[in-house]
Amino acid sequence: MTVGLGWPDTVEPSDGPLGWPEQQRTTSAPEPVPNEGVVSRETTPEAADDQMATRTVSLGATHSVAVEPAGVQAIGKVSVSEGDVSRETPPATVDPDLAPEVVAALQPGQPWPRPKQRRVMTIANQKGGVGKTTSAVNLAAALALHGLRVLVIDLDPQGNASTAYSLSHKTGTPSIYDVLLGARALAEVAVPIEGIPGLWCVPATIDLAGAEIELVSMVARESRLKAALDALDDDVDYVFIDCPPSLGLLTLNAMVAASEVLIPIQCEFYALEGLSQLLNNVQLVRSHLNPKLYVSTILLTMYDARTRLADQVAFEVREHFGDLVLDAVIPRSVRVSEAPGFGQPVITFDSSSRGSRAYLAAAYDLAVRGERGVV
Ligand SMILES: Nc1ncnc2c1ncn2[C@@H]1O[C@H](COP(=O)(O)OP(=O)(O)O)[C@@H](O)[C@H]1O
Ligand SMILES: [Mg+2]
Repeated sequence: MTVGLGWPDTVEPSDGPLGWPEQQRTTSAPEPVPNEGVVSRETTPEAADDQMATRTVSLGATHSVAVEPAGVQAIGKVSVSEGDVSRETPPATVDPDLAPEVVAALQPGQPWPRPKQRRVMTIANQKGGVGKTTSAVNLAAALALHGLRVLVIDLDPQGNASTAYSLSHKTGTPSIYDVLLGARALAEVAVPIEGIPGLWCVPATIDLAGAEIELVSMVARESRLKAALDALDDDVDYVFIDCPPSLGLLTLNAMVAASEVLIPIQCEFYALEGLSQLLNNVQLVRSHLNPKLYVSTILLTMYDARTRLADQVAFEVREHFGDLVLDAVIPRSVRVSEAPGFGQPVITFDSSSRGSRAYLAAAYDLAVRGERGVV
């Protein structure tokens, strides 16, 4: 599996757990760590455990699937092997404040309710680094591991969601760029994710950076993704569109294609800044381009229990958005930030970590709300 720290392909990654090329490791004085700021802040005992466990967890840890492996028909190329599917599952540690029926539902292999119709969710926030990509890849993985069919569309030229699933996003790779330009269908470019049956991802390449400009002169430039999704003849239950940190033509395409917007909000200072602009855009899209669009879900991310600020942000967001806010809050956790370096969502990278459990609970909440028609 490719270790994805974004190094150029010409540099051979080493076998080390962080995947830094040997050359780099020896030349730089302090050993580089991705998201250093994030990592160094983590000092709680659980986090220390997380960090110590880093070196011992193997790539394939976690979650076995008892539900019907859904990943054998349709949506693009299929390459799920038996060995990938049945993995040894460590007993899941559960949060004591969850209701017993929720605890039971979160156990590996428990089937979760299917939505009545395909739910297309845009994950948007024009602020960068708030957890859009992390939330997209983990919510999707959690739903797929519980029997649902899920497609993640990487719509960010940086291709972080593709990296998180260990997919190639070199320029020229068949990707969402080809779909937006009308050269390929979604089903042709969707790639099944190794080890997670029922999960596909449409990768993004850096070519997408030019798409905003190339699309400008095209017919129906804001509804090209919608057209591609409408043409996808597959009973996918969930589509997550991972947006870039801007409100440009790519995000607009996502909002026209979706019916729901999921906004991750970081429990940090400035978290709410720019939110009114985002909500305004949703309103504009609803009145002019897509009357079905609405903000269905808010997810609190990177919650640091040691800071009063995190509580304050969480409190204010709940005051303001009420029921739209999922009960589960994603903690700031080293394991979450390490997982993409191993080409895996934290859900499979370390299923017993706090971040993984929180994403699992959030995904279940999402599934149950969908079933009840709360959204
Ligand atoms: N709960 C978390 N705890 C620790 N690090 C996180 C968490 N969520 C995201 N990160 C890290 O923060 C960075 C930004 O997250 P990302 O999901 O890429 O944000 P966005 O897509 O909004 O730009 C990434 O390096 C990611 O690994
Ligand atoms: Mg992102």
